[in-house]
Amino acid sequence: MIEKTIIKSALLVAGIALGMQAQAEPSAEMLSYTCAGCHGTNGASTGNAIPSIAGLSSTYLVESMNAYKSDERASTIMGRIAKGYTEEQFESMGSFFAEQEVNKNTSQSFDAAKAKAGQALHEKYCDKCHTEAGTVADDDAGQLSGNAKLFLKYSLTDFHDGSRPQDKKMSKKMRKLFKRNKDAFELVVDYYASGKK
Ligand code: HEC
Ligand code: HEC
Repeated sequence: MIEKTIIKSALLVAGIALGMQAQAEPSAEMLSYTCAGCHGTNGASTGNAIPSIAGLSSTYLVESMNAYKSDERASTIMGRIAKGYTEEQFESMGSFFAEQEVNKNTSQSFDAAKAKAGQALHEKYCDKCHTEAGTVADDDAGQLSGNAKLFLKYSLTDFHDGSRPQDKKMSKKMRKLFKRNKDAFELVVDYYASGKK
């Protein structure tokens, strides 16, 4: 009788522990709070250095997190952050951020003449994949227009020097762009900072 009670209470404790474990798995929204400190509320960044992640496609977010985690993609901070999460948690955060509206920060400074030249270059070399200046939520290619200016600039230099892996077809266009114009980085970045489509 006593034994039975012990087994019963042991099962009960185990049951509670399992229940608690299930409860302790944080929701997508709870996970996203950790990101808000840097990326803004619900991933809508207001600065010019940290990118917006609101409205990124889930595929893009999960791939980015995995690339940071494995150090395949260079980073200052994200490599360390990504190592603290599991694939399931990446997917959970991916669905959460994909549901948010794409953020456009239009309060960044830019040079109008450069932005105009940048727009022409974008239309010639980049628009095919980054339609509507890279503001289409589910194109799996990140976000360009209205995204943080410094982040975009670093991304382009990282693609160029190979510290961030890039789409093969994109790298062809990138090379063409720089062959044609040495200041291409600044021009397209000023175009994206203008927030225009
Ligand atoms: C301490 C600040 C900080 C925190 C917290 C943070 N990030 Fe970041 N994030 C950055 C910075 C800075 C970058 C640019 C890459 C780098 O230098 O690390 C970035 C880049 C990214 C990118 C790439 C965006 C793109 O367009 O390619 C994704 C995705 C991302 N972070 C997701 C997250 C998620 C999800 C969380 C929460 C779990 C998070 N970040 C928490 C600072 C932060
Ligand atoms: C053949 C399709 C293609 C073309 C053309 C292309 N890109 Fe991309 N681009 C992608 C894909 C796919 C990604 C996301 C995956 C990755 O990181 O490689 C991306 C990502 C980016 C990012 C990072 C966005 C972020 O949120 O981190 C920037 C910046 C960028 N491209 C700029 C450009 C510029 C500038 C051009 C024109 C010179 C260009 N791309 C042409 C497909 C393309």
